[in-house]
Amino acid sequence: EKVVAIVLAAGQGTRMNSPIQKQFLLVKGKPLVYYSLLEFQESDVDEIILVVSPGCIESCRQDIVETYNFDKVVKIIEGGQERYNSVYNGIKAIGSCAYLLIHDGARPFVDQEIIKRTIESVKEYRACVVGMPVKDTIKIADGKEFIKETPDRSLLWQIQTPQAFEYSLVKDAYEKVLDLADINVTDDAMVVEAATDIKVKLIRGSYENIKITTPEDLKIAEVFCCR
Ligand code: CTP
Ligand code: MG
Repeated sequence: EKVVAIVLAAGQGTRMNSPIQKQFLLVKGKPLVYYSLLEFQESDVDEIILVVSPGCIESCRQDIVETYNFDKVVKIIEGGQERYNSVYNGIKAIGSCAYLLIHDGARPFVDQEIIKRTIESVKEYRACVVGMPVKDTIKIADGKEFIKETPDRSLLWQIQTPQAFEYSLVKDAYEKVLDLADINVTDDAMVVEAATDIKVKLIRGSYENIKITTPEDLKIAEVFCCR
């Protein structure tokens, strides 16, 4: 039962405000995306598809995949305009497999425990996403910066990656949903939620499995980085 991981590194990183795409900024001397590729390389995942911006394919092959001997990376492909376009390009690049893990290359601190839990859970539940209970109170605004509602914090999770699915399930879901014009897709579970009636399992990641998004996250990354 082949397990494939898509590692996404095709974003522009506008919120990081840096001349270099954030996934290639150096943390402890290595490009950020190196850390998640290393975790998947050392895991039970069979193959990795790396998704990068047009024009970065050859430099990523040489400077990252070959330099660090990531031999599970079987393909490096071009991403698209939005995250979901990049994911869908990855899905189309896979011949076939049983299970697919989708991971943000901007989350360097995924670890072996999380990947193991994700693979076990997708085999049991068909669809699962990693997350953690939120620590802050979350408000829903009215669009004019006034509070509309306060959802019960004990039910709220902040969602991370990996997100994992049976391959045929997630492929069909993406094919169905990407034809609908006006859905603002920010994670993969949303696509499966919209296209199927499968209940997506929430599993625990860790509070260190942060997404590097804004400049202060880089300072946190230097502290969390232990490889
Ligand atoms: N991503 C991608 N292709 C896109 C957009 C995002 O592969 N068209 C990837 C990013 O590289 C990142 C992950 O999806 O690993 C999560 O996206 P996000 O944190 O939003 O990164 P960016 O889109 O690069 O940042 P920003 O939204 O600030 O521009
Ligand atoms: Mg983005």
